[in-house]
Amino acid sequence: MRRKDRLTPFIVMDILKEARAREDVIHLEIGEPDLDPPPRVLEYVKRSVDKRQYFYTPALGLPELRERIAMYYKEKYGVDISPERVVITTGTSGAFLVAYSIVADGGEKIAIADPSYPCYKNFAHLLDIQPHFVRVSEKDGFQIKPEHLEHSGIRAVHISSPSNPTGTLYDPHNLKDLCLWCEKKGVFLISDEIYHGLVYSGEERTALEFSQNAIVINGFSKYFCMPGFRIGWMILPPEMVRSAEKVIQNVFISAPTISQYAALGAFDEEYLQKVRETFAERRRVLYEGLKDVFSITAKPEGAFYIWARIDRYSRDSHDFALKLLREAGVAVTPGVDFGTNETSKYIRLAYTRKVEELELAVERIRKYLGL
Ligand SMILES: Cc1ncc(COP(=O)(O)O)c(C=O)c1O
Repeated sequence: MRRKDRLTPFIVMDILKEARAREDVIHLEIGEPDLDPPPRVLEYVKRSVDKRQYFYTPALGLPELRERIAMYYKEKYGVDISPERVVITTGTSGAFLVAYSIVADGGEKIAIADPSYPCYKNFAHLLDIQPHFVRVSEKDGFQIKPEHLEHSGIRAVHISSPSNPTGTLYDPHNLKDLCLWCEKKGVFLISDEIYHGLVYSGEERTALEFSQNAIVINGFSKYFCMPGFRIGWMILPPEMVRSAEKVIQNVFISAPTISQYAALGAFDEEYLQKVRETFAERRRVLYEGLKDVFSITAKPEGAFYIWARIDRYSRDSHDFALKLLREAGVAVTPGVDFGTNETSKYIRLAYTRKVEELELAVERIRKYLGL
């Protein structure tokens, strides 16, 4: 099959298009925060425009932002990272492309959970890397474990914690075991930590606490509420920085300059605490409202998603999501967007809307299902 034909569409974007064309829809399909960024971010945008900072930055990013992110690792996790290991990217999406292109060659394998964020596999396809799907389940807490990887012949494993779509966290013991297994086997561990900060129960640990060889990817789109600024970062082992720099020089030149200056204003603990509390309350409302409507066995510990089993009503999540949109005015994402492993039995609901809207969504869903 040609490369262009291996790419899959991002189904949620199709749902979003139909949902936006309709009136009076409650949008629980959208995986982006509806809250404003920390106030200093907006001040820094103005300041950057006033100073006419319209130039490219160095390919690896603004030195002051790289330093600020290194400091964040010390403050938040107690981990020492030298700023030279921090690489600024065009969203975490840009970071995945850079990471995949420097860890694997065409034909090699990267392990990815099924279900997981749909774009991972498509980054692999773009580079002719083979996605090696690991079927994770409720019983494993949707986590990849070392025993899943034995004899897989993989070059890298890509995990996400908290996970999109399941909202589950990696258990710290498993994260440690996985890091150690990767070190022992000479396999790269890529850890997507973009939902860090949005953790409501359980322990939030970075892979860097367990392995200095881990490739950690994070960004400003979720917790920092800056999705449209298109800024992410990666922490690399020192010997990989030059390879990443070469990819960025050629593919991106640099991440957006004004956004990099703006991101310097994002580390506002007081504001971010309110962001976390807002999502924690929304999670409570949606979970309490739906826990006896659907079967929610994946404990929603982080991110802003609930992964709900719908198989008592339907075995076709795409059809269920379309009917829910058209007949009840509630947009959700069908599980099939995230893989093929039992995913037609699930939908993903995002609590990225105000509490009143979530309450109304619950009411509509219950009514639609005749409850
Ligand atoms: C798990 C995960 N990683 C990465 C991204 C992409 O984020 P960015 O805006 O940083 O490219 C998303 C967006 O939904 C996501 O859910």
